[in-house]
Amino acid sequence: MNQNLDVPSSHLAHTSRKSITGSKRSLILRGLSLTIFLLAFGFVLQGQNGAQDPGPRTGGAQAGAPIAGLTADQLAYFNDGLNRFQEVEVVQGGAHNGLGPTFNSNSCSSCHAQPAIGGSSPAVNPQVQVAAADGATNTLPSFITLNGPVREARFIFATGPNGRITNTPDGGVHGLFTIQGRSDAQSCTLAQPNFQRMLEQNNVSFRIPTPTYGEGLIESISEDTILANQAAESAWARFLGVSGHPNRSGNDGSITRFGWKAQNKSLLVFSGEAYNVEMGITNELFPNERGYPPNPLPPGCLTGQAPDDGTNFDSTTTTGVSSDTVSFAAFMRLLDQPTPACTGTGCSASIQNGRHLFTDVAKCSVCHTPSMTTGTSYVPALSNVQANLFSDLLVHNMGRELADGVSQGAAGPDEFRTAPLWGLGQRIFFLHDGRTSDLLQAIEAHASQGSEANGVIHIFNGLTQTQKQDLLNFLRSL
Ligand code: HEC
Ligand code: HEC
Repeated sequence: MNQNLDVPSSHLAHTSRKSITGSKRSLILRGLSLTIFLLAFGFVLQGQNGAQDPGPRTGGAQAGAPIAGLTADQLAYFNDGLNRFQEVEVVQGGAHNGLGPTFNSNSCSSCHAQPAIGGSSPAVNPQVQVAAADGATNTLPSFITLNGPVREARFIFATGPNGRITNTPDGGVHGLFTIQGRSDAQSCTLAQPNFQRMLEQNNVSFRIPTPTYGEGLIESISEDTILANQAAESAWARFLGVSGHPNRSGNDGSITRFGWKAQNKSLLVFSGEAYNVEMGITNELFPNERGYPPNPLPPGCLTGQAPDDGTNFDSTTTTGVSSDTVSFAAFMRLLDQPTPACTGTGCSASIQNGRHLFTDVAKCSVCHTPSMTTGTSYVPALSNVQANLFSDLLVHNMGRELADGVSQGAAGPDEFRTAPLWGLGQRIFFLHDGRTSDLLQAIEAHASQGSEANGVIHIFNGLTQTQKQDLLNFLRSL
């Protein structure tokens, strides 16, 4: 602002005051009136030329390829996993059996689709079609819409047998759909949960799919690297009011890193969990059919074998021996990180400035760590790779407005993993519940009572419109 005091006095609103007051006071008043003038002017400018999210980058998907340097055998596992990731599951009598009795969709790739297989929620929500497939009689909950994000629903508190909410925390995923009415479900009678009633009582929180690109790299970052990065950021973090901590496994105490709350340990665990929770397919990691709390599952809904998926002991091909869960994990492990639109001085001046503002001015990077390097992996292509994930893999208190009321491990009801920002340029929906498609709103949502990001967002809000635009352009280049 200081340099604006050099503006010739004839351009100022109340220059006549100069003669009545002492020189120091005059200077202050001149500054003040100039500020008022600039604020009013800036307001007009903002109305007309406010910074805007340029929207998803067009052109081909710059994600979804296998990481470079794989052997032919590793590539065979990648392709086998890619195929299985897209298989559409049915209840019984088809090629891929075991769907249900409750589910959110019928293939991994239906939810993980944008901008290429493995990614996040597509523009057109497949759940609308899946809900009614094969004669199913599901009602669409109000939060599932054709042009909205793919969502799963968690209940914050458990419900009793009468449908009333209890004081017992729940936090679990409640399948949106059941197989009732499907031609391959025979005698299963199973009503959907009463989502409307839960919504009215503010007992539902949503999650959208996180992309699975670069997952092998995330898996290969050592605990030491995560903790050393936290230590390296600690001075800025303290200054800006950011804390954050790792989430840890209840099984072995090591840092967990997958999912919106960094609640899951490994790709294998996530594959097994997703297969059963999202699709109702039991497997070697989660061999038992999910219950239907607070009620037991009706026997007519328990079709097929248990588990639905397992090691194929009789297979004659190498990749065929793997269970689906192992194969899904291998596919995601070998998926490369998304390719940004440009790097370094190959980017436009605006994008280069945006990166500078992100890391050096607004300090978004105090949580969104631009890169970490992987350790030594048993897959050489995953060893010592710079993973440009833009996350510290820690969980942070994000304030009252983002809080979802669900605790997972050491991640409390208002804590979330710093969302990795790689691939952001081609994403459609943002934040854990997909509440916005606008990057600017996603940034503003970081600030609310109790959020560790409040200091950083305060700096962001002080940027000029041009600077904000540069930052948004940078984010859409990722
Ligand atoms: C109905 C949509 C849906 C289907 C089907 C689905 N997912 Fe997901 N996936 C999600 C959601 C929602 C999340 C975020 C969950 C969370 O954090 O609680 C997620 C997260 C993940 C993650 C964590 C990625 C990360 O880095 O955070 C992995 C891995 C994953 N899914 C794998 C799979 C696999 C494998 C399948 C198929 C067996 C699958 N998903 C099927 C919706 C889906
Ligand atoms: C205190 C740590 C912290 C700071 C500081 C921070 N973020 Fe975030 N960011 C997060 C967390 C945690 C999430 C996930 C929140 C959620 O989904 O509820 C997130 C989500 C995002 C998302 C949405 C990503 C997605 O996958 O949906 C964007 C975009 C983003 N941040 C950009 C920024 C920018 C730009 C800044 C700086 C102006 C910033 N963040 C500062 C922690 C932080």
